[in-house]
Amino acid sequence: MKPDDFQFLATLVKDRSGLVLSQDKAYLLESRLMPVARKRGMKGLEELIVLLRARMDAALADEITEAMTTNESFFFRDIKPFDIFRDTVLPNLLKTRATKKSFRIWCAAASSGQEPYSIAMVLQEAAAQLAGWRYEIIGTDISTEILNKAKSGLYSQFEVQRGLPVQHLVKYFKKREDLWQIDSTLRGMVQYKEFNLLNDMKALGTFDVVFCRNVLIYFDQQTKGVVLANMAKQMTDDGVLYLGGAETVLGISDAFKPVQGLRGIYSRTVTDVSLGAGAPVAAKPAAAPSGFAKPKHMVEGRPVAGAKPAVRPALTPRPGAVPRPGVTGATARPVTPTARPGVTPRPAATPRPGLAPRPATGATPSRPPAGTTPRPAGSTGAARPLPPRPGIKKP
Ligand SMILES: C[S@@+](CC[C@H](N)C(=O)[O-])C[C@H]1O[C@@H](n2cnc3c(N)ncnc32)[C@H](O)[C@@H]1O
Repeated sequence: MKPDDFQFLATLVKDRSGLVLSQDKAYLLESRLMPVARKRGMKGLEELIVLLRARMDAALADEITEAMTTNESFFFRDIKPFDIFRDTVLPNLLKTRATKKSFRIWCAAASSGQEPYSIAMVLQEAAAQLAGWRYEIIGTDISTEILNKAKSGLYSQFEVQRGLPVQHLVKYFKKREDLWQIDSTLRGMVQYKEFNLLNDMKALGTFDVVFCRNVLIYFDQQTKGVVLANMAKQMTDDGVLYLGGAETVLGISDAFKPVQGLRGIYSRTVTDVSLGAGAPVAAKPAAAPSGFAKPKHMVEGRPVAGAKPAVRPALTPRPGAVPRPGVTGATARPVTPTARPGVTPRPAATPRPGLAPRPATGATPSRPPAGTTPRPAGSTGAARPLPPRPGIKKP
């Protein structure tokens, strides 16, 4: 690919999504965009570029942008953030929102749904404490295609073997031919909506918890700063922000401060592990970072509803094998995969005039795949997810 053609496409993608493509990713552009060109009956990328240079076709530009997204995700990614959510953030929400009995969670780069469904599983496990509560989990992403996968709740054997405790697989998933489908109750707990993080966030409303994990790494510093500043405006004063393991606000934005003792978690106003208002529900670790005090929903070290299993069992079913309830094993850690060679940050490119970021569009309702019969809820938590907000259709 000629350098100026690469620059043309890289600028288009960055202006529309914030994703930065460095010159050494030219091979990636070619391999991901060839199918887009072929789909339109073109022989190669040259034709695609000539067409785009002559007339900016928004649908084609969207397709190109989507093709360049990296959608890597897995259930309970990195484990610890979800442990902290279950043991500290959620108990704190139950305490600080005890009067209004509601909260809202935003997964700002939801990808194929593993992150919002991991949160949904934590909430479902805490159904007893959440009885009478209303909550929303909003999963947004720039990619329509990946959101359709998220809405379907269908995952391969490989995908359910990455991070998902085997008890959760047995409890919340059903085998659908060679795939696994998360049950309809959990699917119904998440509302998906196409949303570009470069766009105005006001219409999304205010959130108590935001997961914005493993997306800012693909943006340049300036874009990260703008997104974080806008996100801060959509959060309650004591709201908490989750970033990915390789991401930080430090040196990028003053809108958030790290919450001491909770790695990867940031807040506008709360700097302490107690997460502010009210007495701490989980005390600061005495010395070792792994030593949070026992949360209130743990009874004598044994989990009750909402608590994690004492031992995270190994998930080693053979391909195609149906796990049996009660199977346990050694502690399993999700394999942290090497990220697909993809986009890497580089200094900001000057936006080209006339190339607006991709606008947000309305959500499309999800449909379970034809022929599937989602089984009823595995658990009967009385908490009611909030009704969808205008413009956000429930799956
Ligand atoms: C690597 S995945 C992260 C998924 C999940 N948060 C996790 O940590 O496992 C990054 C996601 O960000 C989405 N993305 C990239 N640019 C975006 C933008 N400007 N607005 C919204 N989503 C974007 C991609 O489509 C992709 O699904």
